[in-house]
Amino acid sequence: MLRIFLKKKNEILRKIFFNKTTLKFFNHKYTSYYIKNDYNHLSKICQKYIANKGYNISQLKNSNFKLEFFQNYSDYYFEIFHQNRDNIRNVLELGIGSVDKDNQYNMNMLGKKYKPGASLRVWRDYFKKAKIHGADIDKKTLFKEKRIATTYVDQSDTKSISKMFKKFKVKRFDIIIDDGCHRFDETIIFFNCAIKRLSNNGLYIIEDIVPSQRKKFLKFFKSLKFQVKLINFYRPKNNILSNCLITIRKN
Ligand SMILES: C[S@@+](CC[C@H](N)C(=O)[O-])C[C@H]1O[C@@H](n2cnc3c(N)ncnc32)[C@H](O)[C@@H]1O
Repeated sequence: MLRIFLKKKNEILRKIFFNKTTLKFFNHKYTSYYIKNDYNHLSKICQKYIANKGYNISQLKNSNFKLEFFQNYSDYYFEIFHQNRDNIRNVLELGIGSVDKDNQYNMNMLGKKYKPGASLRVWRDYFKKAKIHGADIDKKTLFKEKRIATTYVDQSDTKSISKMFKKFKVKRFDIIIDDGCHRFDETIIFFNCAIKRLSNNGLYIIEDIVPSQRKKFLKFFKSLKFQVKLINFYRPKNNILSNCLITIRKN
């Protein structure tokens, strides 16, 4: 009883402080409410490849499904990409998905069926006319498949990032997603190099903004002349603190 009460109390406090601190830096907001169903095309592809950017309600019936490792991003991505998806030509995602047990950022919590490259395959199936580029520090994740190219990168090292771009031979990307180590310093190093490679109408996304780093991100992006949004996700059961992302547009 006491535990339930404390949990609820923490949830309410977190909500209040989230709003308060966020509005100190980003002073406008809009709220969007929706009913999640099983008909979102992008969530279906996430389910197929066990990519934790999305899930379907029917997956919750499976007792092995661990909602706490999944985000609601595909519901939002579907909304912003769907109409334009056949115009997307080049996508870059940092973080292919290591399954090395010694890698601090491995995806083994998703079970044995998870394969490195899950989200790259999601993008390949969703953006039918795009080439998908993936990069990771774990060389064991690298692979080549139809419309998917991958290479090594260390996101904390600007030289390594330049090499990655040279290897991909793409001038401008329509979408760049950072699903790498999610630490502030490394995320900004990668952002400062990669933003130059985003097309003028492109979208840059930084996933999994955790509360402990949120303030630093807000402070950093507040000073830049870009269109920046913090998108916070909610669900009634098992919501997680990292269910939050930042999107950046040049104009
Ligand atoms: C969350 S996983 C990516 C999951 C994948 N995007 C998916 O959805 O299937 C994060 C990845 O970031 C990689 N990573 C961690 N530190 C890195 C660094 N310094 N440079 C590049 N990649 C890094 C890890 O090896 C890991 O594969």
